[in-house]
Amino acid sequence: MEGILLEWGGMLLRWVHIITAIAWIGSSFYFMHIDAALKPLPRVKNAADGELWEVHGGGFYHVQKYLVAPEQLPKELIWHKWESYTSWITGFFLLIWVYYVSAEVYLIDPAVRQISVGVAALIGIASLLLGWVVYDALCKSPLAKNDVALAAVGFAYIIFMAWFFQQVFSARGAFIHTGALMATMMTGNVAMVIIPNQRKVVAALLKGEAPDPKYGKIGKQRSTHNNYLTLPVIFLMISNHYPLSYSSPYAYIVVGLILVAGAVIRHFYNERHAHRGNHWWAWPVAAIALLIAIYISMPQTSAGRKFLGLGDLPAATDVAGFPKAPEAVAEIVTSRCSMCHAHEPVWQGIHTAPKGVRLDTPELVQRWRHEIVVHAGLTRAMPPNNITEMSEEERAVLRSWGGSVEGQKRAELN
Ligand code: HEC
Repeated sequence: MEGILLEWGGMLLRWVHIITAIAWIGSSFYFMHIDAALKPLPRVKNAADGELWEVHGGGFYHVQKYLVAPEQLPKELIWHKWESYTSWITGFFLLIWVYYVSAEVYLIDPAVRQISVGVAALIGIASLLLGWVVYDALCKSPLAKNDVALAAVGFAYIIFMAWFFQQVFSARGAFIHTGALMATMMTGNVAMVIIPNQRKVVAALLKGEAPDPKYGKIGKQRSTHNNYLTLPVIFLMISNHYPLSYSSPYAYIVVGLILVAGAVIRHFYNERHAHRGNHWWAWPVAAIALLIAIYISMPQTSAGRKFLGLGDLPAATDVAGFPKAPEAVAEIVTSRCSMCHAHEPVWQGIHTAPKGVRLDTPELVQRWRHEIVVHAGLTRAMPPNNITEMSEEERAVLRSWGGSVEGQKRAELN
């Protein structure tokens, strides 16, 4: 019963989390696009500063932007804040649900650091809060006068935090906390800066005073940070199914590269929508950043880093003491994986084969070979935090099995 609740609860939370995040990011993209595309209007008292026309769903929309504020406050205003708050709240519960409730499986890797669940959760939550405080202080410091300098320091700060998480959590837990930290900065921007500033503007208008334009400017700066962070945050949020992305000892550099790739792609669109030209250079820069990230993620063998070349890893016979796969593979999988990945798992707390991956017959092992090689041979994503104590030799056997299967396929093709 408990396991079923855990599974369904996780699924439902993730469902709401993704929906609210889509709404939030959608509105972030939408308003960045609108802001970029506004056509300036002559400055006349009471008039808008910019306008644009849109067409959607069978109608025409005429949007006008009032920098600072209109002279008269309209009776009804649509605020955009709950998309952001609900994404953060559901994300926070999901973090607890998946990573703190099942900390032994997902968060605590004894090979990295042996800590208790309470300590792990405390480090995680405190880092999110402290992370926001530091970022907010940076934005309020004199550094913030220079957008580029602020971005550079913020970039270094996120990489440092990614490195820090790698020192205390499992590789997968480190990536999710880096993403959660960035998402906390983004929601903090909305809840602590953008919306309160907007309220000050509204309050001034209601009093019949002229609002201070600095509030709008600060809000725009924070909302621009949010915009540039969206793509990297989403990468980190989906990374947990792709262990190659987070398993390298240099995963914090991968975070940096994803930040670069995501930011330049956003930049391309922001500039394009503003009719400031097509900055095509953004695409090769993003591609190079991603290629370096892929290169870093390749497991290191004695012969050096192998680039996408599964077939070049050592042959099964190179691994001392193990006969040629797949008998050896079947044996390894049976003793290290099948207690969880079976029709009727025997591992306490696991009631159905996790993610539908069943590894209890030779045919199934053969069918899932790619996943087995990636999750247990090339990376240490499985068994979770090496709970069944798989040895390095066994991982090498899985890799060489992957290699020999690839090699065979190539030979058949030739
Ligand atoms: C202690 C139980 C346990 C053991 C042992 C275990 N796994 Fe898993 N496995 C899980 C859980 C739990 C998940 C779901 C992870 C998630 O929610 O992302 C999973 C997920 C997976 C997935 C799917 C990953 C995804 O993101 O879709 C693969 C593939 C996998 N395991 C392979 C293996 C292999 C190969 C072994 C043996 C080397 C192994 N597992 C051992 C519990 C286990």
